[in-house]
Amino acid sequence: MDSLNNTVFTGKVFIELPEVDSTNAYALRLLSSQTPPPHGTVVFSSRQMAGRGQRGNEWQSESGKNIAASFIFYPRMLAAAQQFYLSMAIALGVCRFLQHELSLLHEPLIKWPNDLYIQHKKVAGILIENTVSGSRLSASVVGIGLNVNQTAFENLPHATSLQLLAQRQFNLRDTVQKLCTYVEAAYFLLQPDKLSALKRQYMQNLYQFGVPRHFVRTANHTLLYGYISRVLDNGHIEITHCNSGQPEYFDLKEIAWS
Ligand code: BTN
Repeated sequence: MDSLNNTVFTGKVFIELPEVDSTNAYALRLLSSQTPPPHGTVVFSSRQMAGRGQRGNEWQSESGKNIAASFIFYPRMLAAAQQFYLSMAIALGVCRFLQHELSLLHEPLIKWPNDLYIQHKKVAGILIENTVSGSRLSASVVGIGLNVNQTAFENLPHATSLQLLAQRQFNLRDTVQKLCTYVEAAYFLLQPDKLSALKRQYMQNLYQFGVPRHFVRTANHTLLYGYISRVLDNGHIEITHCNSGQPEYFDLKEIAWS
C-alpha cells in the first residue's frame, strides 16, 4: 500500500466503507461532527447506494465495481471567488492519473467544468461541495466517481470504464490509493504562484475547446451553434457564436451539450 500512496496528507486517514449512501454525504457528516476530520481524509466505498451528481442528478454505479471517493480538504489559501481553481486542479489531477493508467491511445480530456472523457465517453465525474467562511473557502468535500471494472452501462450510452479501455481488471483499493497521489499533486498547484500554470494546463486538456458544435440553453431550450472560446476564473464559459462572432456566457446550470 505504501508504494501506491506516497502522499503527505491525502489518504493518511482512509475510511473504507462496505456500503454508504453517498461518500460526499458521509464526508459532510464528518465535517459537522464534534471532531473535524484531518486535512486529506478520504472516504471510499465501492457500494454507494445514493450517489450524488452535478446539477442535482444521481450518480449511478454498479455495486462493487467502481470507486466512489470523497476527499476532505481545508483550502483556506483560496478566496471563495477562486473556488473554481479547486475544481480545475482536481479535474487535472484525475486527468493525469488517467494518462498514467492508460495507454497513449486513450487521451483523457476534461469536459467543462470537470467531467473526464475518453473517446467521447465519460469515465469519471467530480462533485465538489464547498463551505465558505467570510470571503475564504474553509472546507471542501471533493467527490470523485471513477468507473473502473463496470463493463455494461445500460442507460448510459456515453459512459466507459478503465476496464473497457484497458481490457483488464483493476484492483479497486490499489487504484484509489494511486488516485490519492494524483489528487494531492494537483492540490499542491493551489498556490498563488502556480494558479496561472494550473489554468493553462486545464485549458490544454479541455474537451472540444474551440470546436464548433451545438449547445442548448437550458432556460428556454434554444439551440446555439458555437465553440468554447474561454473559461473564466469563476468557472463560467464563454461560447462564441459561429455566425456572429459574438460571445455569450453561461454557468453550469445554464447550458447543456446537445
Ligand atoms: C457528476 O458527474 O455528475 C459528478 C459525479 C460525482 C460522483 C461522486 S462518487 C463519490 C462522491 N459521492 C457522491 O455522492 N458523489 C461523488
